[in-house]
Amino acid sequence: MTERVLVTGGAGFIGCHVVRALLTRGDEVRVVDSLIEQVHSGDGERDRILDEVEFLHGDVRDRDLMQRAVARVDKVIHLAAEVGVGQSMYAIDRYVSVNDHGSAILFQALIDRPVARIVVASSMSIYGEGLYRTREGEVLQQVVRPAQRAASGWDPTSESGAPLIPVPTPEWKRPNLASVYALTKYVQETLTLTVAPAYGMEAVALRLFNVYGPGQALSNPYTGVLAIFASRLLHGQRPLVFEDGEQRRDFVHVEDVARAFLRALDLPQASGGVFNIGSGRDVSINEVASELAAAMGRRQLTPELAGKARTGDIRHCFADISLAQERLGFHPRRSFDDSLDELVEWVRRQQPVDRVPEARRELESRGLVA
Ligand code: UD1
Repeated sequence: MTERVLVTGGAGFIGCHVVRALLTRGDEVRVVDSLIEQVHSGDGERDRILDEVEFLHGDVRDRDLMQRAVARVDKVIHLAAEVGVGQSMYAIDRYVSVNDHGSAILFQALIDRPVARIVVASSMSIYGEGLYRTREGEVLQQVVRPAQRAASGWDPTSESGAPLIPVPTPEWKRPNLASVYALTKYVQETLTLTVAPAYGMEAVALRLFNVYGPGQALSNPYTGVLAIFASRLLHGQRPLVFEDGEQRRDFVHVEDVARAFLRALDLPQASGGVFNIGSGRDVSINEVASELAAAMGRRQLTPELAGKARTGDIRHCFADISLAQERLGFHPRRSFDDSLDELVEWVRRQQPVDRVPEARRELESRGLVA
C-alpha cells in the first residue's frame, strides 16, 4: 500500500538513498531540506530526487514550515542534522540548535498531527568508546582513552595499565558522550523514543555506524573519512591520518542503510526499538587509506600520520548488528572491498574541493587536535 512519508534531510547523502528506495517501491515522499552547501554536493541524483518528490525548502527549526511538512503524512524519517564531530566542538550553538531544537520543533508539529511511526537517525557516536574486554574476558563498558598519546600508545588500557581488546559494540552498551555531536544525537534519539509513544506514535532509532558510498559530501572536511581521503587522493595529496591510523571502525554502505530505514519504517516488531546499523566488519583507518589509494591507482600516496588525535574522537568502535539481524532481518549486502571501485568511480565524476587544510587550521587554532 502506498504511504506518504516525510523525510527531513531528504536531500542529503543518506536522505537521497532513502528517498530513492521509497520512490522505487511506490511511496509518496515529501522532503524538507535546507540544502546547506557544506553537506550537499552538486550531484545530479539530488536534483532528480527533488524533481520526483514534494520538496519543501527550508530549515527544520522553521515552525510554519514544519507544520506544513507533517500535514497528511503517514510516517516520518528524521535525518536532518549537522553531522561533523570535530566541527561540533566549536560550532556548539549551531549543532545544538539544528539537531535538538530542530527535533523539538518537529515534535511540536507532530503532537498536533501525529503520524503512525517515526524513524530517527541516531549515531554510533553516542557510545563513545566501543565495548572492550580484558584478556581475562571481563567486559568493560566505560573505557576512556588517554587524553593524549600515552606511553602505552593511543589505545585505552585498564586501570592497571593492561592492554584491552576492542569487541563489537551492542546496543546495551551505556552511552558515553564524547562530543557535542554525540550529545545532540543522543538527545534526538531520546526525544523521539520519549515523545512519540506519548502521542500514540511508534518510534524507532537507528544508530548508524560509518556510512559511506556514492553521494557522500566530498568537500565537507568534517565528516566521512572515506570521502575526505578520496578527495585528497584525487588532488594528488596524501591522506592525512590522525593518531597512528590503527583506530578501527565499521563502514556500512549507504544502500544497506537505506534498506535498514525501510525495514524500520515497515516492520511491526521494529516499534520501540534501537538498532545498530553497521556492516558487522571492522577495518582500521590505515587499511581504509591504503585500500582506497590502491583502488584509485595512487598507491604511492601513502598516509601522512598526523600523530595527533582530534578532540572528541574515539579510538575503536564497531557494530554488533545481531539485534538488527534478528528483529529487522537486516543483512548487509555490500562489502567494503567490493564497493571501493564504485566509490572511486563516483568520486572521479565530481569536482571536490580539498578543504582539509582549512579544517585542520580551524581545529588547530582552537586547540582541538592534541
Ligand atoms: C563520527 C561519528 C559518527 C558520525 C561520523 C560522521 C563518533 C564516534 N562517530 O565518526 O557517528 O556518523 O563521524 O559525521 O564520533 N580521520 C583521519 N583523517 C581524516 C578524517 C578522519 O584519520 O582526514 C580518522 C578520524 O580521526 C577517525 C576515523 O578517521 O579516527 C573516522 O573518522 P570520521 O569519518 O570522521 O568518522 P568517526 O569519527 O568515526
